[in-house]
Amino acid sequence: MIKKILKISGCFLGVMFLFSCDSGDIYPKEYERNEGITASATFVFDNPNAFPEDYPLIFGAFEDKQSIPLASVRIMKPKNNEPVKVSIDNLSPDTKFLMLCLTKLGRQPEFTLFEKDINIDLAGDSIVIPETNIKLVSYERIQNLVFEQYTCLSCHGESPGAGNLLLTADKSYNALVNIVSSKNPAKNRVTPSDINNSFLLEVLKDENLDLNRPHTGFVTRNDDIVLLKEWIKNGCQR
Ligand code: HEC
Repeated sequence: MIKKILKISGCFLGVMFLFSCDSGDIYPKEYERNEGITASATFVFDNPNAFPEDYPLIFGAFEDKQSIPLASVRIMKPKNNEPVKVSIDNLSPDTKFLMLCLTKLGRQPEFTLFEKDINIDLAGDSIVIPETNIKLVSYERIQNLVFEQYTCLSCHGESPGAGNLLLTADKSYNALVNIVSSKNPAKNRVTPSDINNSFLLEVLKDENLDLNRPHTGFVTRNDDIVLLKEWIKNGCQR
């Protein structure tokens, strides 16, 4: 900020020397008018192994929650899981939300990890979001980005569900965690903290598994498989 003011003042000084015009104290006001509002935030990512790499993760200023952002910055995976500081200068007057989200390649939000409503008229000259912990692994992310995104529900959406499995938001957790597989009764569909006794992962990844309906082509992003594994390893939080 200070650096910028100096830079701009410098330009003005330069201009003043060249044309040797007015007296000094008009330019800080000029500058203020052009400066706009800055939004800044600091995030710490819990469970960094589930940091998305296929979905761009962005901090953005949005007018509505479904459309592409008015402005955004992409966040790359931090080394040693240090806090990540991000900021957006010159917020558009149309900004209504600041969001941290996984996006599609066109930057439309796909899954939101953090959001804050903004009243730009009351914002002053900066909006500061203090250090905030972000849960990268959540059951909500699994339900949205795996079961709903990959249309599992077209076969596992209505009772009793293909393979006797229902994956709707109200049923999926209880249908998976600590429930014996109907296809392979030697395993559970999901066992907390035991990825080797979690048939769900085999169904989605094992090319040699003999299912009536092969599933290995359904989940197309590695991020979503990593998410499932991290969730299981960490005890299947709800
Ligand atoms: C086109 C229909 C269809 C879609 C889409 C589908 N499934 Fe299935 N699923 C089945 C069928 C049929 C079975 C039973 C296969 C068998 O018995 O050999 C099954 C079985 C399973 C099982 C094993 C259940 C058990 O108890 O052994 C799991 C886990 C599973 N599906 C998860 C998923 C997930 C997750 C998705 C989305 C990524 C998905 N399925 C998408 C049809 C589908």
